[in-house]
Amino acid sequence: MSTDPTSPITIATEPGRAVLRLPSEAATRTLAARLARLLRPGDLVRLEGDLGSGKTAFARALIRARAGQAIEVPSPTFTLVQRYELPGLVVVHADLYRLADPAEVEELGLEEALEDAAVLVEWPERAGPLLPPATLTLRFAFEAAGGPEVRRLVIEAGCGFADRLAALVEG
Ligand SMILES: Nc1ncnc2c1ncn2[C@@H]1O[C@H](COP(=O)(O)OP(=O)(O)OP(=O)(O)O)[C@@H](O)[C@H]1O
Ligand SMILES: [Mg+2]
Repeated sequence: MSTDPTSPITIATEPGRAVLRLPSEAATRTLAARLARLLRPGDLVRLEGDLGSGKTAFARALIRARAGQAIEVPSPTFTLVQRYELPGLVVVHADLYRLADPAEVEELGLEEALEDAAVLVEWPERAGPLLPPATLTLRFAFEAAGGPEVRRLVIEAGCGFADRLAALVEG
């Protein structure tokens, strides 16, 4: 098993699902860079997990990896949606934490964005059932053992991502 602290560690895999340990923020960035290469227009990625668990850190690393440089990636907590025209792919980064009512999600244009972009959504739970089905769900959790940078990540792939899951998990 890898002991490289910048590598995600696979804890368990089964069809359509994997559990990883992210020993450091660098490991989170490594995984984000893998997903940056695999994403396609029409993909909707749900980023779930408690406050401060790493959703924005993951999205920022993904967008920077795809940009090929450390561009500014603010948390969309207040703007709710940010759009990035990146080489070969448009990425839309949304944060629904401040959505006052689930129905407001329709005004954000995420469904339209999926026509030409990959969409990353933090706090998708705030939209209730009003979001299109997810291609991929990433659920971040704090891990008590190992230190403040350790996270546990549950990955659930929709059928549209099944053929890419191994590349994401194994690198
Ligand atoms: N392994 C890790 N993965 C991701 N972030 C990490 C990790 N270790 C430490 N961190 C730190 O944890 C914090 C994660 O904050 P981030 O804003 O990404 O959380 P969030 O899930 O987006 O929270 P919110 O629900 O408020 O949007 C950052 O300060 C980041 O540097
Ligand atoms: Mg965030």
